[in-house]
Amino acid sequence: MKLGITVGVPKESGSGETRVAATPDSVKRLVKSGFDMQIEHGAGLAAGFHDEDYEAAGAQLVGGDKAWAAPIVAKVAPPTEGESRRIESGALIVSLLEPFRNAPLLEKLASQRVDALALEAIPRTSRAQSMDVLSSQAGIAGYRAVLEAAHHYGRFFPMMMTSAGSAKATKLTVLGAGVAGLQAIATARKLGATVEAYDVRPETREQIQSLGAKYIDIKLDESGSGQGGYAKELSEDSKRRLQEALNEQLKKSDIIVTTANVPGRKAPILVTEDVVRGMRRGSVIVDMATPSGGNCPLSRPDEVVEVHGVKIVGYTNYPAMMATDSSSFFARNLVSLFSLFVREPEKGEPTFFINLEDDIIDASLLVHQGMLRMKRS
Ligand code: NAI
Repeated sequence: MKLGITVGVPKESGSGETRVAATPDSVKRLVKSGFDMQIEHGAGLAAGFHDEDYEAAGAQLVGGDKAWAAPIVAKVAPPTEGESRRIESGALIVSLLEPFRNAPLLEKLASQRVDALALEAIPRTSRAQSMDVLSSQAGIAGYRAVLEAAHHYGRFFPMMMTSAGSAKATKLTVLGAGVAGLQAIATARKLGATVEAYDVRPETREQIQSLGAKYIDIKLDESGSGQGGYAKELSEDSKRRLQEALNEQLKKSDIIVTTANVPGRKAPILVTEDVVRGMRRGSVIVDMATPSGGNCPLSRPDEVVEVHGVKIVGYTNYPAMMATDSSSFFARNLVSLFSLFVREPEKGEPTFFINLEDDIIDASLLVHQGMLRMKRS
């Protein structure tokens, strides 16, 4: 079965980006669905996937120009300006596009008449779960963030009693219990830490407790629940009250992992300098929200800084630190997504088409035929 359409997968160019949008396994699946696959030479190497394995899976290995010139370009990180110029008019790019911060890129793609599907805009619905790149990558990030915390902390997580002395269990607090936060809680629990967690969405209480962590109960006059499983921005008054209520709790933590995020907004400040000053020396803060401004004003993107004796970890791309698994999950998300592009009529051959009546495509196709169609505010 052939759809007569080619997907080009270029090598990622961003500094530190080790992921790739297709793996030999996803190539096999997409070829089976009728797509022709063109992978740039060496595109998977940093993630541990070799050219010959892509070839064996049914892909054609090509140079960068050819991968960028395909009618569909599949990528992990948003294209740079130079890269976007390499996409042909009438083509479709499927990638993370950071649409909230990247209006100029979307406008440029529209002016080139390149269609753009932003993976961030895939709705968090049950049907879209298998295509939800943000969730698959955030889960990996939450896991890796706790490993980084353990690495920089340099003490045991569980309580240890040995003939050479004993160690107390680490007290670890997680702020924000979305996908990354819940995985951070689960990982910290598995390593033996005592975990407490807080989220502005009250419905997270049970999820936090079911992972064996204590829910930090803070009463605000408003709920932080927004649309589609995401948070909404709190009023200035609630923000201030929340910071005050968290302060003492946070100062007693050995490790804080922050993941608090409101889509399209700057990350809320939850760990103030006063908290950092009040923490024991040797404590660790892992600020996962650094890419959107940080939950701690002292964190620095892609740096580990030490302030008032506390190490603050600001890595912005944890999934790239686990590139084999994160690429595999990412690529499998794309296989599910691409199934939406295949129309299977009762009679005749399947064809490729972009169905704007499908709610997932409707929400995520942010540029179509030269028009911007961004929906979420
Ligand atoms: P998410 O939207 O599923 O979770 C964020 C959580 O924060 C939500 O549950 C929300 O209710 C909560 N929240 C919002 N405001 C809050 C507040 N004031 N206090 C407490 N909780 C609050 O997002 P996800 O996918 O779990 O990602 C979390 C963060 O991690 C995001 O900032 C994301 O950009 C970042 N991230 C960072 C990576 C890295 O490598 N540094 C990789 C992946 C995600």
